[in-house]
Amino acid sequence: MLTEDLYFMYLGLMLPKETHSQESLTFFAQDFTFKDDDVIAVTYPKSGTIWMQEILPLVLSGGDLTPIQSIPNWDRVPWLEEKRLKLVVDQLPSPRALVTHFPYQLMPPSFFTSKAKVIYVMRNPKDVLVSSYYFHQMATFLEDPGTWDEFIDKFLKGRVMFGKWTDHVKSWRNTQLGDRIMYITYEEMIQDLPAAVRLISNFLGKNLSDQIIEKIAHHSSFKSMQANIMSNFSLVPKIYMDSDKSQFLRKGVVGDWKQHFTSEQLVHFSSVISKELEGDNFTLPWSLDATVDVANVDAQVEM
Ligand code: A3P
Repeated sequence: MLTEDLYFMYLGLMLPKETHSQESLTFFAQDFTFKDDDVIAVTYPKSGTIWMQEILPLVLSGGDLTPIQSIPNWDRVPWLEEKRLKLVVDQLPSPRALVTHFPYQLMPPSFFTSKAKVIYVMRNPKDVLVSSYYFHQMATFLEDPGTWDEFIDKFLKGRVMFGKWTDHVKSWRNTQLGDRIMYITYEEMIQDLPAAVRLISNFLGKNLSDQIIEKIAHHSSFKSMQANIMSNFSLVPKIYMDSDKSQFLRKGVVGDWKQHFTSEQLVHFSSVISKELEGDNFTLPWSLDATVDVANVDAQVEM
């Protein structure tokens, strides 16, 4: 299918028609009102969105498994910009957990006047790219990614849903939200999930016991989510997501990029990303130094 059949542009963002519409965006922009106790997980696609759709209801309910075992993730913690929000918003328990891929400057006015809290989840862009490449192969409502080389180019030019990774990160790293926002990385969550769940619950003012934290980490582990039909997208018909091509819960690891990039691709990718982040006053938790990474990849090739 042609790009214009699959996507439309909204305020400079390329959005898939299957899940978004002018009506859903107007609903989000004008009819939806944020509440002070809302919690919003914000991600660039493929950075850990569905992981937060598992963790947040568990944290907010103090470890009650009912929501994650009875409601599909897209209705349990809906995307603010998607068509389904309007259908489920009135059924969400308070405090509400929501997700969005929107950049900061496109959030609607009530977001800025509310005290809603934000958890921004960031992931190494090289692994985001890999995850996105496979997602574009299995999600029939997205453009075919083309070759790996072609997809790197599309990603760097922002010709993918929600535009450039660097624009997204910059928008949310430079906010006026003060202590309303917390930053966490996918990599931290992989490294020590109970510790990440503790950080999230503290940020949300939930004083949970070690036992409950362990329970939440267990039920939001990759394995548990893979086995949970409310979270593994097996309820979605194959005409939308073809699990024979790739799984939504695909690998769930850090560093899969090492299996995909050539040295030349790494140098190019790292230099474009570094240049676009130049001058911004935040640090990234991963090296964008291509020389270090190239050594890493070359060592793999030699093995
Ligand atoms: P991979 O494709 O690298 O496996 P999003 O939800 O933003 O679309 O991100 C999807 C990515 O998050 C996928 O990455 C998926 O496997 C990973 N993911 C989801 N839940 C996870 C979990 N519990 N542990 C580790 N990775 C998880």
